[in-house]
Amino acid sequence: MTEPAKRSVLFDPLEIGKMTIPGRIIKTATTETMSTADGFVTDELVAFYERYAEAGTPLIITGNFYTQRSGRVYNRMPGADDDNKIAGMKRMADIAHRQGSKICAQLSHAGRQVFQPAAADDPVSASAVSDKFSGIKPREMRIEEIRSFVDGFARAAERCQRAGFDAIQIHAAQGYLLSQFLTPYTNRRRDAYGGSFDNRLRILLELLRAVRERVGEGFPILIKLNGDDALPLRKGLKTQTLVEIARVLEDHGLDAVEISVGHYESGFPTIRGNFNRFFNTLLDEGVGQEYPRSKQLGMRLSKGILAAVSNRLWPHSEGFNLAYAEQFKRALHIPVICVGGFSGPEAMAEAIDTGQCDAVSIARAMIADPYLVRHLRKQEPGPQCRFCSACLAHIGTRPLDCSHPEVSAERALMLERERKLCPANAA
Ligand SMILES: Cc1cc2nc3c(=O)[nH]c(=O)nc-3n(C[C@H](O)[C@H](O)[C@H](O)COP(=O)(O)O)c2cc1C
Repeated sequence: MTEPAKRSVLFDPLEIGKMTIPGRIIKTATTETMSTADGFVTDELVAFYERYAEAGTPLIITGNFYTQRSGRVYNRMPGADDDNKIAGMKRMADIAHRQGSKICAQLSHAGRQVFQPAAADDPVSASAVSDKFSGIKPREMRIEEIRSFVDGFARAAERCQRAGFDAIQIHAAQGYLLSQFLTPYTNRRRDAYGGSFDNRLRILLELLRAVRERVGEGFPILIKLNGDDALPLRKGLKTQTLVEIARVLEDHGLDAVEISVGHYESGFPTIRGNFNRFFNTLLDEGVGQEYPRSKQLGMRLSKGILAAVSNRLWPHSEGFNLAYAEQFKRALHIPVICVGGFSGPEAMAEAIDTGQCDAVSIARAMIADPYLVRHLRKQEPGPQCRFCSACLAHIGTRPLDCSHPEVSAERALMLERERKLCPANAA
């Protein structure tokens, strides 16, 4: 592996509200499929986070927690919906702190974007607009349901704080419920929560206020927001409006923003890469096994074309959301975190050096190599992600892991070496 361009930048501390993190490389949210069916933390989930902590990852953002059961994205998703979950969540926070990492819980509600249809009994959204990716037709949320969602979300945030998490992240990106309220294409309401910019933003502001009231002034609240909805020919949001949303949230006490892109319906701008393995994995090992037979057959017949088109439309590049992130950076005073395609130290350092963002966050390259931060710090080689996204194709059906044959073989050898170095990891 080559040397980082400016090692000091990647390991410079960063202040997010009153929290200081010891570096600029963040593990972003990745759903784990490791909880019990009722959303309780398991040993497997704690062990998953232990590796990132051992690596010295400055900030670990967990996979999404649901705040009420009706907001689940997939099965075996963890919940922060009840006080009886706090003890398990505390184990995650403790494991991160033991090695000096900070840990932030991502809180979300699927809305119409239920990745695993079996996870949703009665999907709701801002409006009853079908999701073309999953085929799910939600019903419009009633006003009292919005109130109870906001209240439940704030209570969940407080539970994270009580469990010892250092921060929470509101998931308002990638087409999940809050993103569905912001976006005119998915929000066609005629009441106080739809129509104008202010009305579509209302739920998020109420939620931010409610969370702040529960967690108090000093506790960092982050948000994940789109830099672009990537919904061509539909009424999706563009960067300028999303920057304006972030500015209003900053005025209301938000502490940092992480920039992503797209909705499920956008295709794959969120996870640009090479999709030759994706559809096979989805059908053979992922939630595709649960699709109706006709959908499975159609996908099997067209998977070659789907992969070729996806490869062409959404090729991988390092820092593929930087053009959006830098527009947020120009308008905001709070830290801007950019996710998307990062794996090498040069691109990460350059993104920060050139002022396009304050920190970078990483999903797939850290699934391939959970010790990535340590490897970068010590300038040692580690397994290199090939951005095949097969890891995403089996969420909901089996625990998160690298599914690329060569990379996962290399990863297994590395984990074996780690286990020998530290026999406690054998468990
Ligand atoms: C397996 C997997 C699970 C993911 N789960 C989440 C999640 O729970 N919450 C979220 O905001 N994004 C999730 N994402 C999206 C990532 O956080 C990230 O935005 C995206 O993968 C681009 O970053 P990367 O190029 O570093 O992978 C997931 C991505 C993958 C590959």
